[in-house]
Amino acid sequence: MSDARNENSVEALFKPFTTGKLQVANRIVMAPMTRGFSPNGVPGEDVAAYYRRRAENGVGLIVTEGTVINHPAAAASPNWPHFHGEEALGGWSNVVKEVHEAGGKIIPQLWHVGLTRKPGDLPNLEASPIGPSGLNLSGEKITEPLTENEIGDVIAAYGQAAADAARIGFDGIELHGAHGYLIDQFFWDVTNQRSDRYGGDLAARTRFAVEVIQSCRRAVGPDFPIVLRFSQWKAGYYEAKLAESPQQLEQFLTPLADAGVDVFHCSTRRYWEPEFQDSDLNLAGWTKKLTGKPTITVGSVGLDNEFGSSRGYNAHPAALNSLIERLENGEFDLVAVGRAVLADPAWTAKIRGKRTDELLSFEPSSTQTLY
Ligand SMILES: Cc1cc2nc3c(=O)[nH]c(=O)nc-3n(C[C@H](O)[C@H](O)[C@H](O)COP(=O)(O)O)c2cc1C
Repeated sequence: MSDARNENSVEALFKPFTTGKLQVANRIVMAPMTRGFSPNGVPGEDVAAYYRRRAENGVGLIVTEGTVINHPAAAASPNWPHFHGEEALGGWSNVVKEVHEAGGKIIPQLWHVGLTRKPGDLPNLEASPIGPSGLNLSGEKITEPLTENEIGDVIAAYGQAAADAARIGFDGIELHGAHGYLIDQFFWDVTNQRSDRYGGDLAARTRFAVEVIQSCRRAVGPDFPIVLRFSQWKAGYYEAKLAESPQQLEQFLTPLADAGVDVFHCSTRRYWEPEFQDSDLNLAGWTKKLTGKPTITVGSVGLDNEFGSSRGYNAHPAALNSLIERLENGEFDLVAVGRAVLADPAWTAKIRGKRTDELLSFEPSSTQTLY
């Protein structure tokens, strides 16, 4: 199949995708990106118009920026959107309306930052950060470990957020289980040293996420798509690993798939990197092979530099050739695009229309504007 492909064809990116639960017009997903444009946690008209522009320009599925569940220590900035309270949910309902009118699909990324929050961070100055063992990503003790009752409250808050997402018309949810935030703090042995049922080996450390997924599933019923985003890397710890081998990855993924994840969003910084030795498969490729579930890949699509370095970037459409070949070969099903779509709302339309000379580059300063 790949020998016959026309090197310049982008057709594979624009074929519809369906899981049975989720129908998407094409394979392009807007990656979740925190923007900090929601004062007091409320996404306004400007945020709705920002997402609408991506849908108008052909993004198949939008994953919103991380939006925090109803827990006092879930956020670490007063400008990150809430996913609770009448005003914030009203703002999100308007975002959904705008995106749907433009023909797009949209799911919120449900987020709790765990121990990446520092004591005294806004919006709730008094709220103490929480984490499985009270340890931050460096393994330093910051607070007391969560009690089982406290864990139960957080799990219930995820379930409530999922119920609200379905009620206000979202097309599914994504659970942010990546990058060293709360769910990932349960996955990672540096931050999870518990000796109860939420700790133990890698499979046991999925227990919290499993209960979050089950709580969301109970809240939304069997037909509402649940996406789980996970990563090996953590914010500031790019070499961190949950799984060192395909066998370990399988131990990690099996309980999560069994709990009811429909799609895995496998967060890497460079999609072309093999995840393990002796195979070219990337993390999304391995995850699809091991679970049989559809996967989303991500990481420097259309860019010439990886996430986590500080210099500017040029749009680099030639790099799409290897991505498209992997997509055609079935290594993964969907492709999330972050910075390229942040800087250029028309990225998808320009790629489809071969207007690559018109692409706008991402610069670190691009994050200061809702293009
Ligand atoms: C400004 C910015 C904010 C981000 N915020 C989030 C977030 O809220 N949740 C998340 O899972 N990833 C977040 N990410 C990571 C992106 O979703 C994506 O995985 C990363 O940028 C790599 O994709 P890219 O190379 O196409 O940009 C963020 C990235 C950027 C640049």
